[in-house]
Order: sequence, then structure tokens, then C-alpha cells
Amino acid sequence: MPGVTQRPERLFIAVQLTEDTRRKIASGLGNLPGRIVPPQNWHFTLRFLGSTSAEDRDALVSILRRTNLGRIFAIRFGSLGAFPREKRARILWIGISEGAGELVALAEKIEKAVRLAGFPSESRPFQPHLTLSRIDPPRSVTDVMTEQKSLAVSMKVSEVTLVRSSLGGGPARYEIVESFPLDA
Ligand code: 2AM
Repeated sequence: MPGVTQRPERLFIAVQLTEDTRRKIASGLGNLPGRIVPPQNWHFTLRFLGSTSAEDRDALVSILRRTNLGRIFAIRFGSLGAFPREKRARILWIGISEGAGELVALAEKIEKAVRLAGFPSESRPFQPHLTLSRIDPPRSVTDVMTEQKSLAVSMKVSEVTLVRSSLGGGPARYEIVESFPLDA
């Protein structure tokens, strides 16, 4: 709206899960320690942007609309993993056993677009993961990881989303601001 200054928003770019995939993964997981991320919030973050002005968001959206994000591809969910390490885990996540190369390539395309829009570059290497729970105080998750049966769930990645996140009072609230399709 002209004349109205919008407040910065906390934004990130992610691949969402289909509803079917959320259901299949939720029903295949055993009991997990820590604060569980609700299934409707599950996603793969491709790029965390943090607090972003409306101008920077609009610049990024217009570049992403013009970016060729490549073709639709499939991913297959893999085993559980932990950050910073299994014996003293703070984050328990699920990784992917197929399609990781494509997801990394997609994150690289996004990174280029983000830099073109004038954002500072990301220094941390991208590691495909979907956060399932946050553990505080940290603990060993070796037992959880060995007991978890493989899920054999596959999903097509057909779009990338720009997401607004609001924190405070329980789980984060995520809202999709824009979607950017991959080629069929
Ligand atoms: P995580 O799942 O590994 O915690 C929204 O906060 C998403 O952005 C989360 O998926 C989170 O990853 C990711 N993210 C990446 N870098 C972040 C940062 N510096 N602060 C908060 N979230 C970050």
C-alpha cells in the first residue's frame, strides 16, 4: 500500500510436504524425544532469510518468478539424523535417501537468486534435513535412531515456497507468501 511502511517479516524459502506425505511420515514415526514439530509445519528449508523488509521481499519475489528452477523431481525419505551430533542431539531430523543431489542443486539456484536480489550470502553449507523435534537439554538419540524403521515414503518436489514465520507462544506459525513452480 503506498504511503504505508510495512514491518520487516521473518522469511525463509522451503519445500513443503504434500498432505499425503505428512500423514505417511507421521504414522511411520515412533515416539520422538523433545519438542515435536507439528506435522503441518514440516518442511525442508532451502534458505533462511531472517528479518526482511517489504522492498527486499518484493525484489526477491520478482527474481524468483523469472528464475528457472529446473524440473520436478522425486525425493525419498531416509533415516533419522541429529544436529550437532547423535550423542548430544539438539535437533532430530529426517533426511532423504534419493533426490538429495537435486535438492542441493535447487538450493544452489535459490542461493543465486537470493544474492541477485541483494541479500548477503549464506556461509553455512546446505544440508537437506527436515526438523522433527528440538531437544533441550540435549541428549543421545542413538536408541531412537536405531529403533526407527525405514519409512519408504517418496514425494514429488514440484514447487518452492516463500514462507513467513511468526514466533512466540508455542510452535511457529508459517504462512506461504508465494509459490514458485518447477517445470513439469
Ligand atoms: P531448522 O529446521 O534446522 O531449525 C524456519 O525457522 C526454518 O528456517 C527452520 O526450518 C530452520 O531450520 C531454518 N533456519 C535456518 N537457519 C536459521 C536461523 N539462523 N534461525 C532460525 N531458523 C533457521
